[in-house]
Amino acid sequence: MTSPKKFTMDCSNLPAIAAPAHSGVRDTPHWTLDWIDFSRIRIETVHDNDDLFYLLVSASFVESGSDTYTRNLVAHFDTHPQIADWLQHQWEPEELQHGRALRTYVQTVWPDFDWEAAYAAFFAEYAPLCTVEELEDDRALELVARCVVETGTATYYQTLRDLTAEPVLTELAERIRLDEVQHYKHFYRYFRQLNAERGLSRARIFGALKRRLNELRTSDADIALRHAWAFRHSPAEADEMPFEQVCQRLYHRVGALLPMEQAVKMLLRPLALPHRMEHIIERPLACIARRVMTA
Ligand SMILES: [Fe+2]
Ligand SMILES: [Fe+2]
Repeated sequence: MTSPKKFTMDCSNLPAIAAPAHSGVRDTPHWTLDWIDFSRIRIETVHDNDDLFYLLVSASFVESGSDTYTRNLVAHFDTHPQIADWLQHQWEPEELQHGRALRTYVQTVWPDFDWEAAYAAFFAEYAPLCTVEELEDDRALELVARCVVETGTATYYQTLRDLTAEPVLTELAERIRLDEVQHYKHFYRYFRQLNAERGLSRARIFGALKRRLNELRTSDADIALRHAWAFRHSPAEADEMPFEQVCQRLYHRVGALLPMEQAVKMLLRPLALPHRMEHIIERPLACIARRVMTA
């Protein structure tokens, strides 16, 4: 899920292959909402951009609902206190902060949009879907699934950052992107720790990757987009701009810009493929993924 075209591949924050064990404790202060000067937003440059509206609103919904999800994850990792502690005390507050920052941006640029009502409608549909059963039974495989989600969000915010020249949004998207890359690194590191004991086969890891990838296009993002669309338009306007048309346009635009090679690199990492093989398959996989996204 982001005007081109100053898109650049940014691999500088990918995790090192041999990441050391880590306590999960941050050594520098995390940014806060008052670091972002929302009064500097150049509203006139983004207000009429329908794509940005949908991308920002849907992201604000999903991020704002993170606490529902965290509860299940924390319970799932109750036998791994270090992971549960990081999820509860770092990961959740950061995801919720992403939600608050994006919501503030949306409400500043589109004050007529009833964010609270639209979010309530989104949440009513979304919350019942966040169940423990939705998680991978094997905790190491759930960490692989989390790497897929964080790959999706990191590349989404990179695309969002490159879609606009509006300075506040560029700054915000970059801050969130960096957080998502850090989340990926944590999940990946924890996966390596657990898998050192589990020794899962590549076939099982690939299965978890595939299952979570299949859900990406049909899950929370779709529900969020539908409610953003429903509260954006009057019924008459909605007939002129059907939801399917909006979705198709967004997937096509974002799919064409997503840093696919970077995403593939991040997705393949848990498989620990031989370097040469990884190198050979990265580019063709990125081409296939882009075709699927823009189809
Ligand atoms: Fe986030
Ligand atoms: Fe994240």
